[in-house]
Amino acid sequence: MSIRAALVSRFAPVLRQQTDDPSEYLGMIRPSQNPHFGDFQANFAMPMGKRLGKSPRDIAQQVVERVELDDICETPEVAGPGFINLRFRNDWLAQQLQRARMDDRLGVAKLERPRKYVVDYSSPNVAKPMHVGHIRSTVIGDALQRILQFLGNDVVSDNHLGDWGTQFGMIIYGYRHFVDSTAFAQAPIAELGRLYRLVRELMDYHDGCARLPDLKQQAAAARATADNMRQATVPTDKQEAKKHDKAIKQAVNRSKELADSLADLQAKLSRVESNRSLHKLATQHAEINESVLQETAKLHAGDEENRSLWEQFLPQCRADIQEIYDRLGVKFNFELGESFYHPMLADVVLALAAKGMVKISEGATCVFLDGFDAPMIVRKKDGAFLYATTDLATIQYRMKHWQPDAILYVVDFRQGDHFQKLFAAARQWGYHQVEFQHVSFGTVMGPDGKPFRTRAGDTVGLAGLLDEAEAKALEVVNRLDDQREPSEQMDSAARREVAKVVGIGALKYADLSQNRTSDYEFSLEKMVALEGNTATYIQYAYARVQGIFKRGGIDIQQLRDAGSAIVIADDAERQLALQLLQFDEAIIDAAADYRPNLLTNYLYELARSYASFFDRCPVLKAESDNQRDSRLLLCDLTARTLKQGLKLLNIDVVDRM
Ligand code: ARG
Repeated sequence: MSIRAALVSRFAPVLRQQTDDPSEYLGMIRPSQNPHFGDFQANFAMPMGKRLGKSPRDIAQQVVERVELDDICETPEVAGPGFINLRFRNDWLAQQLQRARMDDRLGVAKLERPRKYVVDYSSPNVAKPMHVGHIRSTVIGDALQRILQFLGNDVVSDNHLGDWGTQFGMIIYGYRHFVDSTAFAQAPIAELGRLYRLVRELMDYHDGCARLPDLKQQAAAARATADNMRQATVPTDKQEAKKHDKAIKQAVNRSKELADSLADLQAKLSRVESNRSLHKLATQHAEINESVLQETAKLHAGDEENRSLWEQFLPQCRADIQEIYDRLGVKFNFELGESFYHPMLADVVLALAAKGMVKISEGATCVFLDGFDAPMIVRKKDGAFLYATTDLATIQYRMKHWQPDAILYVVDFRQGDHFQKLFAAARQWGYHQVEFQHVSFGTVMGPDGKPFRTRAGDTVGLAGLLDEAEAKALEVVNRLDDQREPSEQMDSAARREVAKVVGIGALKYADLSQNRTSDYEFSLEKMVALEGNTATYIQYAYARVQGIFKRGGIDIQQLRDAGSAIVIADDAERQLALQLLQFDEAIIDAAADYRPNLLTNYLYELARSYASFFDRCPVLKAESDNQRDSRLLLCDLTARTLKQGLKLLNIDVVDRM
């Protein structure tokens, strides 16, 4: 039981005397922000007083008199308008630590009512080079499924590969027209990547040419509007003048935005136009956009040649992605890609029609949804199915075969609208009971404040990024190890092994430690920093503990078995103990809101508490054997907790770095 849960269980019967459902009030028993106000604080007396029309201080006083806390806490203190300040007894903390350390799960109980989850994550569109955005889904999804599983839930992880979309039409088209057969024979994936990028560029070029006149017009109109507004007389009324000023600013911004987009587009077009051979290709392939759609449609319709190209390309693409998964240590229970659902799509549309959910609008089959302006199209005029149709089929399949209580989609926030519609349609279709969650996340930004890209303009390839992270980590490992006596140092192979763990861990942690809904700036330098909220810092704390055991010649298993007492005396020991005993709370919070950053925050705080403890409390040079053993046990429990916590994020530890 967590220390919070212990308090809650004592307060619950007392609060139930005042109200039928005390859960909201019990939620107000939280760690204090300031140790001055105790370890935990209960703030429910204020809202309760308001509701009952009584003085909060009296309520707090009454509760404190009734609640049974003697064995857990020092005498509670009522402060200010009615705060209840709680300070745990040191012997109780020590007892809880003993329990945690005897437990393989470090005191984290499994849920009484576990659920079944499907977690849909990673899900890249294969045949396109994977990029840094895919790391976020992969890493966040992987952490969530581990966290949920650790709590005792039944979890099915499913990689909903995009193995059937337009990107295949693109490489099929590219292969037909531009393949370099020698290059393809030697390195198929690199050649397919080149073809993809080439076709993308040509398609974008024609798209851009088509958009240009409109955009020019819009930009000119916006500029004219802004100019006119600037020349208009300012109203004399203060309020009106303010409004006027605001409107001008808006118009100027709008005009600037459009001017920027126009400049961007023009630059893009002229990049193609200034490259003679590329421009020639663009001219020769003026119909490329339609042709790519046709290649895709032919594939979907079962065209033999396209099907066999797809069958040739797909394993190559998957192998390429698998390499990344292997390096990240990510595994899935299922990888049912979009192609898997293709044979079911026609029936899905029929089933929706049978439910009276569809209307034909301009030839397209649409699902109209309450609360949404635009309908969800499930079949285009030309008969093609869409991303949404596949997702409906996927829901049907998952419900039928796995019967989950919840399906989580760990996908970029830009697909928010798609998922809101999808969930609404699925409910209308009859899937009422299941919880659908779009676990959305923001964009990975470069130092320039724009989505992270390499200089060439491509989003950074993932494999290259992993290499860079490992190289950066190696610098850190070298720096640390160089400080040791030469006889103590690792050889270069060992250093590289450590750098792998540190580099990959840093990359994952940087992603996980952000509030997932915000964008974050990608910086390898910061990721592997030894100070601050990084995996490196936490791994370092772990390695430090192992260093103590090694220096002291401690047989840790023997110490664990010996059953020595843990004694909490120093303030730094207390802080560390309090932190250690909130591990389960952190995991539960992270799972409740699908936010791994609540777990990283916890681990960071734990590593920090350990650092203070390490500075203040000598371990091997403790005053007595008892104190030494007690402190060694604290070190050990800290290391185990850090290791287990990182494991839930799929980050490894090393014994030395
Ligand atoms: N393949 C999609 C993309 O890369 C993500 C798929 C997410 N999962 C889903 N069931 N729609 O954008």
